[in-house]
Amino acid sequence: MAVQKAPSATLFYFRGARFPSPPVSSQGLELVESFEVREDDVFVSAFNKSGTTWTQQIISLVTAGSNFSEVSKIPLGKRVPWLERADLHADAPPIISQLKDSPSPRLMKTHLPYNMLPKQAREGKGKIVYCARNPKDVVVSVHNMNFINDYLQPLSWEETLHEFLSAPPANLWWNVIPEYWSHKDDANLLFIKYEDIKKDLRGHVVKIAEFLGRSLSVEQIDEVTANCTFAAMKDNQATNLSRDPVLKEKVFKRGNEHGIEFMRKGQVGDWRNWFSPQQLETFEAFHSEKMAGTDLTFEDEE
Ligand code: A3P
Repeated sequence: MAVQKAPSATLFYFRGARFPSPPVSSQGLELVESFEVREDDVFVSAFNKSGTTWTQQIISLVTAGSNFSEVSKIPLGKRVPWLERADLHADAPPIISQLKDSPSPRLMKTHLPYNMLPKQAREGKGKIVYCARNPKDVVVSVHNMNFINDYLQPLSWEETLHEFLSAPPANLWWNVIPEYWSHKDDANLLFIKYEDIKKDLRGHVVKIAEFLGRSLSVEQIDEVTANCTFAAMKDNQATNLSRDPVLKEKVFKRGNEHGIEFMRKGQVGDWRNWFSPQQLETFEAFHSEKMAGTDLTFEDEE
């Protein structure tokens, strides 16, 4: 794919982890540790390209109570703002500062590693829903995101794989995900997997509702589920960011010109279309070595 390079994001380090700015705010990151968490706060956390948006949409609707189709039309970034994000308007304070005045229950998204979550959340206040995805599909989705997002540097597939496997320890998938997994039995954390949601979306709507203490009727569960399918979310400009009236001009122009959208494929096992046998061998060997001490496994085929 021949592309124009637009290296608008600069990378910076915070407590050993690497972040792109925009969209992440270094000023905002400083405020995360001491962020005052409320009992009814919900954090949707996930590694990039692992089902964050999907989980945001489910949680937003599960907690909406009614008018699901209407709520579903509100831009997702407004319903579940990104904790460590800078405001789109450079002069505005970071999102985390604005959250202080938001009404409860606050729903927030984050890509931070566990040890960088607000201290009070780590101590058990509020709830955390963590969504993980098999790393082979994550790296494919990351590769495509780098391509479609005008702020990011498009890399070759080979380069993306190399970057993914040689990320700084604080950003490395094989450190971040097992750390969250080690908290899977914490009372305030629900660990879910992209592949499991694919198999049983409705079951996950129920599971998440139960975790958040919400009781939904059968009809409500059906309606939430209908608004969370890949087709519904692709069709919806509030969740398919490539169709958002502002972002399609500001962020996703390159992707749109090439017909690749934020809601790209939504499949388990797309990695088969990308890995060469040699790349697969290297990746699997790395994966086995890094995961040797954990009982966390992923299905990676549909
Ligand atoms: P693909 O690029 O493999 O299609 P995130 O929200 O963490 O950035 O993750 C984005 C990935 O989740 C993309 O994967 C996207 O298509 C997928 N996704 C989002 N909503 C989905 C849904 N309702 N069903 C299945 N996959 C979904």
